[in-house]
Formats: sequence, C-alpha cells, structure tokens
Amino acid sequence: MNTADIASEHAARLAAADPLLPLSEALDDAGSTGDAPVFEVVKGDSGASGVSARTEVAPKLSDSLWRALVEHRLTVRLAGSQSGEVFADLLTRWDEHLAKVAAPGDWDTAAVVIRPSRDPIGSAELLRHGFAPVRVLAVRPADRLAAPGPAAEPGVRIRPAEQADLDTAVGLHTELLRYDAEFGGATLRESARELFAADVAKQIASSSPALWIAELYGQPLGLLQIQVPPDSGWARQYVRAQRVGYLSSLHVAEAARSSGVGSALAAHAHQLFDEAGMEVVLLHHALANPRSTPFWYSQGYRPLWTHWQRRPAIR
Ligand SMILES: CC(C)(COP(=O)(O)OP(=O)(O)OC[C@H]1O[C@@H](n2cnc3c(N)ncnc32)[C@H](O)[C@@H]1OP(=O)(O)O)[C@@H](O)C(=O)NCCC(=O)NCCS
Repeated sequence: MNTADIASEHAARLAAADPLLPLSEALDDAGSTGDAPVFEVVKGDSGASGVSARTEVAPKLSDSLWRALVEHRLTVRLAGSQSGEVFADLLTRWDEHLAKVAAPGDWDTAAVVIRPSRDPIGSAELLRHGFAPVRVLAVRPADRLAAPGPAAEPGVRIRPAEQADLDTAVGLHTELLRYDAEFGGATLRESARELFAADVAKQIASSSPALWIAELYGQPLGLLQIQVPPDSGWARQYVRAQRVGYLSSLHVAEAARSSGVGSALAAHAHQLFDEAGMEVVLLHHALANPRSTPFWYSQGYRPLWTHWQRRPAIR
C-alpha cells in the first residue's frame, strides 16, 4: 500500500460515509519541509499518511479569539483493516515532532486534527493520545425541517443592528465568547472587546444587514450574525455544495434564554439564507456547550467535521 492507495481508499470511504463531504484529495505534500513534515506508516493492508502544518495568529486578529495563537494541525488519510493501529503509530510520530517544535505547557498552543464526523476511525486513538472532540462544524441542508420547538414568543422583534446597538452587540458577543471559552476552543483575550467593536461597527455600516438584534418587549437581548457569498466563500471547501451560507454567531442574554428568542433568531436566519438561495448553512459550535449543541440539532443541523484538540499541544 502506497500514499496514492491510502488516499484513494480514504476518499472512497468518505464518499460512502457522508454525501455532504467534499471529495477527499491526495495530501498536498508539496511543502514537505521542516515546516510541514509528512508522516507515513504502512503495515500489511493498512496505511496512514499525514501532513503537519503550523499556523500562528496575532492576538490583535479576530481569529485569535476562536483558537490558540499557535496551532499545529495534522491532516490525515487512513486506509485498511488496521487503520486505527497505523493511525496510533502516526500520532506517536507526530508527537515526537511536536515535542521538538512546541513549547511544553503553553496554553496558547494546540494540536488539532479535524476529522469527518461520520468517519469515526481513529477516535479511540485520538482519545488515548490526549485529544478531545472540542468543536463541530455542523451543516443544515436548506430543505431540512426543524423539530417542533417552543411556541413563538409574541414579544420578540428582530431588526438590523443600528449605531445605537454598538455597546449591546459588543456585550452580547463578549458574553458568547466567555461562555464558549469554558469548552476549550475559544479564548477570552484582552483584545476581545476592541475586536468585537471594530467588527460590529463594520457590520452596522454595511448596506446589506448581516448583524441582527432581537428585542424582547423592547429590550435588546439577542444577536444574530450571518455570512452569505462572497463573505462565506471560505466555507465552500468544507462541504459538497455550491451555495454555502455561514451562521457566524447567535447569542441570547442569560436572562432571556429558554423563552423562544433563540428559535426566533434561528428562524429569521434560515429565512434570510433561503432568500439568498443557500443550498446549505454551516456553523461552528462547541461540542460540550450544553445550550448550543441540543439547540442546533433541534434546528436541523448535524455534525459534518469534528475538531479534535489537545491544548496545550505538548503538556
Ligand atoms: C443556544 C441559545 C442561542 C438558544 O437560545 P434560547 O433563546 O435559549 O433558545 P429557545 O428558547 O428558542 O429554545 C430552547 C427552548 O425551547 C424549548 N423547546 C425545545 N424543544 C422543544 C420542543 N420540542 N417542544 C417544545 N419546546 C421545546 C425549551 O423550552 C428549550 O429550553 P430548554 O432547553 O431550557 O428547555 C442560547 O441558549 C444561548 O445564547 N446560549 C449561550 C450562548 C451559545 O451557546 N450560543 C450558541 C453558540 S454556537
């Protein structure tokens, strides 16, 4: 079994496992240098190949709120009857590499493996190597029906965010980040308020509203932010669809939760995505979040990609 055999068996298995996954291509090892080393383990009919890539973001960038500053990401292809076993050896090799390049105990480093949610091979090995399933990229095809939810809340009004909402919107974004940071993927940073303020100001100034406020009996208590093409173009690589929307944020103030505000915002988002002709909508959520996980799955979403993370990258 060689690299090409591993890649083609991996691709065939994924295509059968989930029709919404993009076609899996051979690993891009063009940059097979010290920065992006390639690993391969072959035993009998089984093989695992992986490319490790390191990325770093500055704390002054919005991305830094949703990840560790330094991330080592392993992209893998697995094949054969013993794929779990060869994957375990591959992870050991990767660990040896990380031990040379990552600072032990640094909370702003993470080792990340993103696996198709419906291809569970290797999950046990990831757990044994200290990884946890932390975040999911979930998908909702446009024709999916939501489960019958709470009765529509008559006092909810949804409107585009305006200049006067800047502080409220920044406050709701910050509350969401603080809540999500409990579950490992997000990072509450000193720069958060400033970053949110700049983004909210940009959204408010935009001619096509992407930031929405939910008022409950006149009080602004909920927030929704969406992306449609071209802004959501980055998400197309993760799903087999042409017209892809992205639900960036949905948050309801603690005092107003469980009373239908979130469902009203989600229904509004899905109406906007339908009007924009989206085939699917994607969103990220923290898997251990006891509010968002059940909420999204009752809204018609389901897991597409699972982010396994070990943070710090090396203990
Ligand atoms: C996730 C979140 C947005 C949901 O918003 P919400 O306003 O609390 O949600 P809703 O009230 O519209 O819907 C949930 C309620 O609907 C009701 N409900 C759900 N399914 C129902 C059904 N089948 N039949 C009747 N009622 C139902 C329940 O009352 C449920 O509340 P409960 O789970 O406390 O019992 C909100 O809880 C929140 O902001 N959480 C913190 C931040 C967060 O996690 N954001 C998402 C990030 S991805």
